[in-house]
Amino acid sequence: MLHPDIKEVLYSEEDISKVTADLGEILTKEYEGKYPLVIGVLKGAVMFMTDLSRKMDCDLELDFMDVSSYGSGIESTGDVKILKDLDTSIEGRHVLVVEDIIDTGRTLSHLIELFRYRKAKSIKIVTLLDKKERRVVDLKADWVGINVPNEFVVGYGLDFDEKYRNLPYIGVLKEEIYK
Ligand code: PRP
Ligand code: MN
Ligand code: MG
Repeated sequence: MLHPDIKEVLYSEEDISKVTADLGEILTKEYEGKYPLVIGVLKGAVMFMTDLSRKMDCDLELDFMDVSSYGSGIESTGDVKILKDLDTSIEGRHVLVVEDIIDTGRTLSHLIELFRYRKAKSIKIVTLLDKKERRVVDLKADWVGINVPNEFVVGYGLDFDEKYRNLPYIGVLKEEIYK
């Protein structure tokens, strides 16, 4: 049943799993024999990371970073705080950063800068959703699942005020909920 706060479903469970499987196939070829460190950006990327990594048919390691710039509101503040760092050293490693969505691009541009400084061998980005219209810094993902329109989307990891992450689909939040 559709959550009462959701205006419409943009991408169903089936849509998401098809996109994820396609990306998994591409990434399997890309990372075969490279033993990449797959880094999920908490908390939004968790659902996508767990599904995507299970579609990558090669050896890899998982790690997480918690970086936050949004607080509980809907607008990015530009502040990027490291709330949890990696457990793994990335020097000389092939790094694949997994995101649920790229919006202004600030979160990832800070992370990429950090990973370069730490001398990763390669740094690539895969994101399920890309909201290119909202970009304020020059940041491009290497692989994009779906280009999304500039609407307030939640579900499958994406929250509003920490809610709706567990919806199995991605939907548009009703305006009265966030206004
Ligand atoms: C969201 C989203 C991305 C980031 C994208 O995370 O999951 O990580 O914002 O925005 P940007 O491109 O403008 O930086 P958020 O900071 O809300 O934390 P969360 O993943 O815990 O929800
Ligand atoms: Mn996030
Ligand atoms: Mg958030």
